[in-house]
This record gives sequence, structure tokens and C-alpha cells, in this order.
Amino acid sequence: MKGILLAGGRGTRLYPLTKSTSKQLLPVYDKPMIYYPLSTLMLFGIREILVISTPHDLPHIKHLLGSGAQFGLSLSYAIQEQPEGIAQALVIGANFIGTDNVCLILGDNIFYMGEQYHQFLSAVHRDEGSKATIFAYHVSNPQRFGVIEFNEHLEAISIEEKPQNPKSNFVSVGLYFYPSDVVAKARTLKKSARGEYEITDLNNLYLQEQRLNVVPMRRGNAWLDAGTPDSLMDSSIFVQIIEKRQGLKIACLEEIAYYQGFISREQLQHLTQELSAGAYKDYLQKVLDDAHEIY
Ligand code: G1P
Repeated sequence: MKGILLAGGRGTRLYPLTKSTSKQLLPVYDKPMIYYPLSTLMLFGIREILVISTPHDLPHIKHLLGSGAQFGLSLSYAIQEQPEGIAQALVIGANFIGTDNVCLILGDNIFYMGEQYHQFLSAVHRDEGSKATIFAYHVSNPQRFGVIEFNEHLEAISIEEKPQNPKSNFVSVGLYFYPSDVVAKARTLKKSARGEYEITDLNNLYLQEQRLNVVPMRRGNAWLDAGTPDSLMDSSIFVQIIEKRQGLKIACLEEIAYYQGFISREQLQHLTQELSAGAYKDYLQKVLDDAHEIY
């Protein structure tokens, strides 16, 4: 399973915050936004990841994440010249995907799911290679998202992108699992009225072929997108509340790499020693000092 992290777009809804900086590098409390979706891929056990961004922003993202070796990852990078939609990421990543299955995640999506990671993975593994899997989350403002309509058997029957009259409160989150035939399908898409290759159009192709799993994310899980001033602030406050209360970090990539077995204790020790004094270094030192896995 390969991963694609799409950190593109102009971030117009966050202007002027995004005039000179990539949206995905803005802080969500104590970390750059892109750490959060990257941590989600890592928690799924995905280590081979293509990061896609704009010509302007990609060098800055590369500067932040490098080769990924420090987190036991193999990161590669590609450019999306124009903000022409989420589904284009799968065409840009065609060679990278090859004949593998792929997980696509959006660079402004923040997940806090605890044990549901395992449940998600089993839903994906069940149909791996034959079906696509997407996730539905109940929100108060569905018209901002891809809205999923269910029948009485809880089967998805339609997905509409940003409808004025949403048929439900369930929306598609920015996390998608596809078999390798997604590349051929993405190539057949036409641009929508807003000039984008829509991920919703792609998902509808799988739905029409009865090859789309739609897995509900239970209400105990948090899904936030940090794409507007309010949701960016909400995300920061959410992370701050959990981290201060628990004394445990969300999306600390070094810690996740260590607990996932992507890097050794010696590597974590080395990373910690290299850091300048501060709260992040103190946290990693605590991870090293704790005798057992506490997350
Ligand atoms: C995109 C998708 C939408 C999905 C959302 C999740 O919206 O088009 O279907 O619900 O991401 O964050 P956009 O970021 O383009 O507003």
C-alpha cells in the first residue's frame, strides 16, 4: 500500500495567511499542519509516500520533511502545477502508484481516531485490490463537502459535491483508499464547473460499479479540516486541549515512527539529541524514558 499526501491549492479561504506560506505549513497548535495527515498515513503503517504540492510550496515542504528517513519513511515529491482538483493527484502519481493499492489523504485533514485505525484498516483490507473505501462523517455544515446519501440498509446511493440542498449530514472525509485501477479511472474524468477534477466524480465511478465501500466514522472520533480561519483555530484548540490534558502529543512523527517500529530506540535517541532545548525535545526524552508504550 502506497500513500499520497496532497498538499496543493492556493489556500484562498485562508488569505492573507497563505499569501507567502503554504496552508499545510501553517501551525495547528504546536506542529505544522502537514504533520497530522502524515501521522495518519504512518498509523496505517504506510511508509512509501508521495507528497504533492505547488511549485512555490514544494521546496518549503521538502525542507521540513526531507527524505523521510528520520521517520523511517521513504518520501518522494511531485508538483501540481495548477490547483486542478484532488483527483488529479492520482494521475500525477501514476508512476509512483504502479500496480499497488494507494491511500490518498488531504494535507489539511486532521484525524483523531484511536482504536478506529484498526477498524478502518480491516475495512480496507477486506476488499483490498477490488474495491475503493471512503469514510463518512456526520457534520453540521454538509454543504461545504462531498455529501453522501444512504438508503435504509446504510448503503451509499449517491455522493454530491458541495450541494446547496444536502441529502444528509454525512460527508466524505479527505481520506480515500483505492485499488491500482484508480489511475485509469482518474484519467477519464472531465473538469467540473469549478474547473477541477473532482474526487467525488471519481468515487461515483466506483459507486456505479458497486465497488465503493463507505465506512461510517463513529461519533467518538474527531475529523477536522483546517482550511478556513475558524476550522484552523478549532483544530489548534482541539489539539491543545487533548495534549495539555493527557501530556501526550498528537502527530508527533518521531514518537509514532518509534512505536510503529519504523525507527529504532537508538535512532530516536539520536533524533532527540540533535534537537535544540525545548518542549518538543523534552517530550521525546520522556518517550525514551517511559518503560512502556503509552499512547
Ligand atoms: C474536498 C472534497 C470533498 C471532501 C473534502 C474533505 O473538498 O472535494 O468531497 O468532503 O475535501 O475535506 P475541498 O477541500 O475541495 O473543499
